[in-house]
Amino acid sequence: MHFSAVKGNEKETKTDSVVLPFFEDAVPESTTRYTGWTKIPDYAGKAGFTGKAKQVFTLYENGVLHILTGLGKKAKYNLETFRRAYSASYSNLKNSTIESVMILLPEDRTEEAFDSVYTLKLSLYSFDTFRESKDENKVKEVAVSTKEDVSLLDTASAVADATNFTRDVANMPPSRGTPSLFEEKARGINGLTVTSLGREDFLKLGMGGIEGVSRAATEPAKMVIMEYGPKDQKPLLLVGKGITFDSGGISIKPSEGMDQMKFDKCGASAVLGIMKLVSDIKLNRHVVGIMPLTENLPGGNAYKPGDILKHYNGKTSEILSTDAEGRLVLADGLSYGVDKYDPYAVIDFATLTGACVIALGNNIAGLMGNNEELVSELKNASSKTWENIWQLPLDEDFMDQIKSKVADIKNTGGRPGGAQTAGAFLRNFVGEKPWAHLDIAGTAWTQDKTVKSGYLPDGATGFGVRLIYEYLTAS
Ligand code: BES
Ligand code: MN
Ligand code: ZN
Repeated sequence: MHFSAVKGNEKETKTDSVVLPFFEDAVPESTTRYTGWTKIPDYAGKAGFTGKAKQVFTLYENGVLHILTGLGKKAKYNLETFRRAYSASYSNLKNSTIESVMILLPEDRTEEAFDSVYTLKLSLYSFDTFRESKDENKVKEVAVSTKEDVSLLDTASAVADATNFTRDVANMPPSRGTPSLFEEKARGINGLTVTSLGREDFLKLGMGGIEGVSRAATEPAKMVIMEYGPKDQKPLLLVGKGITFDSGGISIKPSEGMDQMKFDKCGASAVLGIMKLVSDIKLNRHVVGIMPLTENLPGGNAYKPGDILKHYNGKTSEILSTDAEGRLVLADGLSYGVDKYDPYAVIDFATLTGACVIALGNNIAGLMGNNEELVSELKNASSKTWENIWQLPLDEDFMDQIKSKVADIKNTGGRPGGAQTAGAFLRNFVGEKPWAHLDIAGTAWTQDKTVKSGYLPDGATGFGVRLIYEYLTAS
């Protein structure tokens, strides 16, 4: 796709289609300038188009598909309205012969220009790698009527590409989306230094968490470490849960819905996508990404309830459920990263608990941490994207809830506060470093109760990539 900024030259811009914004109670100046319309044209009004949010009306005129896009009442308008409305109108570009689109913006804010491109690429995504019938989107030329420089549009496009890359990896079926595939993908990203630890290293380094969880896995487990950027800066450390399939292990899950546990690698997929992004946009920041990767399977040699594992930082955990495996592999990833890279901050992503889904649903991720400044920076970043997050408390009491009689901590604290006891468990592995934990169990892929808009596809959402882009580039 090629992007251009065409403010002032809209009428001279050759295009197959044009997106025209409408408020319910006003016609944006951009639409009026291009069409001469000062109100909703009669024939659109007669067909029921009122400019309500997400309403779309198309008409073909002079060889150009006009996509009238409703944004609702002007007073209620915000960026999420914009993203949902534009993604609804972009559905007209899917599986069509349209090769070019010109996008007019309601207010020509920087955020609108960025999101017009970002949302377009997210909306055209589908996971059709394994389908005979592919979605054929022909859009190549995208002109945005904006005062912004085209570099903003190119950056938005890179953020969307990285998000779609995350989706592609996360959507892989479990026998294909293996730890080895992650390593291969990491090595395929330009500009990263990639190292990979295997079983021998886990034993040597004392990474008893990933060693235990991976014991009955047939696919070789890996801890893949990616580094980008100037080493004279303290890095940001990102750690992502990469359980390429979570059967529950000996504490096996019910068979219904178990297929969904191929998505238990979404945390690692997000970290991989973020590493690709920082490299693609040549961000001048030192970032380290760590992916503890393994299947969680039962077997005669599997780790068992009652086992005690010793993690990289020396802490021991009593296994009450082999299905609470994510925290065990993250424990090693976090403490290793903190020890080796001395980061200024640590953020982890994990499809960690069903409890978080029950608490916050499928459109909001759980946020926990030990540092209010980092937490509030993430909240600010979240306000710029569709990736909603909500802070859950990590009081000392949750640390007490996971005290064990035979080890330092136990890997479950029972059902009450299940997301927070998982967070409390992780807290034991970051020392005093500013750290935030994002439980993306509800948001990493679209589920039964996900409120879907056009930019959220079936399957993996790519949650986390744009969020960390906003965090890293906030001034
Ligand atoms: N990967 C699951 C969490 C999960 C469940 C994510 C459903 C998305 C949807 C995790 O490994 C797990 O099994 N967690 C257990 C923890 C419990 C045993 C303490 C859970 O949430 O039930
Ligand atoms: Mn599990
Ligand atoms: Zn899991």
